[in-house]
Amino acid sequence: MARLSDAWLDELRSRVDIVDLVSSYVHLKPRGRKHWGLCPFHNEKTASFSVDAASQLFYCFGCHKGGTVIHFVMEMERMEFMDAVKMLAERVHMQLPESGGRPGREADKALREQIFEANRAAALYFHELLWSPEGAEILAYLHRRGLDDLDIRRYGLGASGKGWNDLETALTQKGYSPDVLEQAGLVVKKEHSRYDMFRGRAIFPIISAQGRVLGFGGRAMEGAQPKYLNTQDTPVFNKRRGLYAMNLVRGERGLKRLILVEGYMDVVSLRKSGVEGVVATLGTALTGEQVRLMKRYVPEVYLSYDGDVAGQNATLRGLELCEEQGLACRVLSFPEGLDPDEYIRKYGLEGFEKLRPLSSVEYRMQREADGVDMSDQEQRMAYAVRCCGVLRKVSSPVEREMYLGRLARETGFSEAALREQLGVMPRQEENRPLRFRSPRREDREESEAEKAQRTLLYLLSAGQISRDVVQEEDFDDPLYRRMAAMLMEGRSGAAVLDNVPEEDRERAARALSREVLTEDPKALNEARDCLRCIREQRADSEIARLQQQLGEAKGAEKSGLLRRIQEIQRDKQAFSGTGGRE
Ligand code: UTP
Ligand code: MN
Repeated sequence: MARLSDAWLDELRSRVDIVDLVSSYVHLKPRGRKHWGLCPFHNEKTASFSVDAASQLFYCFGCHKGGTVIHFVMEMERMEFMDAVKMLAERVHMQLPESGGRPGREADKALREQIFEANRAAALYFHELLWSPEGAEILAYLHRRGLDDLDIRRYGLGASGKGWNDLETALTQKGYSPDVLEQAGLVVKKEHSRYDMFRGRAIFPIISAQGRVLGFGGRAMEGAQPKYLNTQDTPVFNKRRGLYAMNLVRGERGLKRLILVEGYMDVVSLRKSGVEGVVATLGTALTGEQVRLMKRYVPEVYLSYDGDVAGQNATLRGLELCEEQGLACRVLSFPEGLDPDEYIRKYGLEGFEKLRPLSSVEYRMQREADGVDMSDQEQRMAYAVRCCGVLRKVSSPVEREMYLGRLARETGFSEAALREQLGVMPRQEENRPLRFRSPRREDREESEAEKAQRTLLYLLSAGQISRDVVQEEDFDDPLYRRMAAMLMEGRSGAAVLDNVPEEDRERAARALSREVLTEDPKALNEARDCLRCIREQRADSEIARLQQQLGEAKGAEKSGLLRRIQEIQRDKQAFSGTGGRE
């Protein structure tokens, strides 16, 4: 499909009644000119979640989530932008715009639908086979691994027959085309023969958060190789994109973290014992896409890979990936070389709850300690230097200090020496910039001028002041300036929000939302106050800058600067006195 035009999106938003739509999730009550309710995105007892029918925006004054009706659906249904748009379009019977000159797209879509259908039929077939005499061996295997029939139904587990063409025969009889089965990766074609991909295996369907069967994992019975076989990549399945058990995560509201394990059995087993939010990769290393997928659901992830060298390296790589994508992460290791499934079956939920995840720093320091003989002075010194390399990348000074103390106790070097080591610039290849995270905007003291810019944006978007009252230059915050430009072009606040990048959305929504709305007659005065504040602050900082130059200037340059300062001061008095530009 073509990129959606702004006009089309405007039309969609205006056809959907945001109050009506939100009401199907949240109990709303009218108060003032808005509707209020308990925020569905964080826990609260008093309503700070608001919906403004006029601006078609929602905003929570508690957790700062906000946006258009499209963002609301994205958050509630955990959908991507396009899927939310599709859902809303269906609701108001709007046709999606035609795919701009890409005839292949419709056919692709049709094929994907057929593959999903075939996958669903296959999952059903495998599941039913499990209860038949043919599936007895595999059913007994699953029981032996501690699963009961309820678990088996919950995960839709199944069995594939031993024959070469059992599935293909069954599904073609039901009318599925051999070609689609092949494209779904269920049937493999080699030269002149065709055969089922999964034979004599326990089947784990891989289901998307939206409940569609993407593909399968098949566990061989004792001895057969490979132990696990996964659907190859198809138009609907990509091992590097999805995660096992994402369909269950969707129903788990309020999850604080996900646990990422390696094996399907680990997921089933931990969850069976009562651990929530467990998912697994699909037989490949973790990818950025998978991290972003998790980030849509939770603020944090615990990496829980095997303790062997491969697992350790995968963990270090996983920590880096999560950090790159801004998802908090810790490491949960299972002792005694047990995998999560073995551990929980041995020690139960109680044992599991005793495990403490390590912070990424602790984990990295622990890895640096591998194989180090602390009684050997040289090794101990090298270890301390490597740990300082780890600590150098910690952005929080307090956190750094805490680990520094530990490292001092552990290695016997003084904190002062370690701190100095920390300051020593690393060798060239390590010399990456430190990751200083700037404080979240709303945690920072907001300047008066910043607040004034927000107010102006609000008044503009609410149509309470006209475009010629302000200028783009009144906004020095880059985001606010972009928003102002769009509003001054006559775009609605909702359209603006659909056009700011996701990471700016909270701040943008905040600027366009107010708890108590301004009365129309007061709007212009409020705008003037804001402009005065912004311009005064700008004049003050300009004067300060010029005065600094003045200190180093001579002769003609000096008098020029003085004149300029006087001019600015005069202007400042003028607009301070009269209340802004007329
Ligand atoms: P493990 O071999 O650690 O399996 O593979 P496990 O989960 O402990 O298996 P059980 O308990 O013996 O049944 C972990 C994951 O790696 C992938 C699979 O996704 C598996 O769940 N894997 C493993 C493969 O894709 N192919 C293989 O041959 C082995
Ligand atoms: Mn296992």
